[in-house]
Amino acid sequence: MTVKTLAIASDHGGVELKSAIIGLLKDRGIEVADLGTDGSASVDYPDFAQAVAKSIIDGSAEAGILVCGSGIGMSIAANRFPQVRAALVHDRLSTELCRQHNNANVLCLGARLLGEATALDCVEAFILTEFEGGRHEGRIAKMS
Ligand code: RB5
Repeated sequence: MTVKTLAIASDHGGVELKSAIIGLLKDRGIEVADLGTDGSASVDYPDFAQAVAKSIIDGSAEAGILVCGSGIGMSIAANRFPQVRAALVHDRLSTELCRQHNNANVLCLGARLLGEATALDCVEAFILTEFEGGRHEGRIAKMS
């Protein structure tokens, strides 16, 4: 994906991983909007999923990344917005597939389930992998 602008957010379970991801993205020249959270205080993941979804919908970000403890809550919350195709991934292959086949525009990661190296590998695959189009176009259109 040729992404220039990306919005990222996490709940308290994903703050540290979010910082590492921001470092990687900035190293790659991507403009990153960090929509929080900023500390260890307990927060509600749907609020942060909504903030990233709004950035996709209003066009201020081309793609998004959401991090919570498992990634599950974030993916459920983000997929309530029709313009969002959020994928909860666990490794590089599932990340490549979510781009190639599903044209995912939001990556969801579980900070308590993935090591940092695996999570960063997923982020790298997310920003590098293109949608294949073709037979996948119609399937995605059915979800919009
Ligand atoms: C927070 O404790 C935890 O529930 C959240 O980070 C996430 O895993 C929810 O799906």
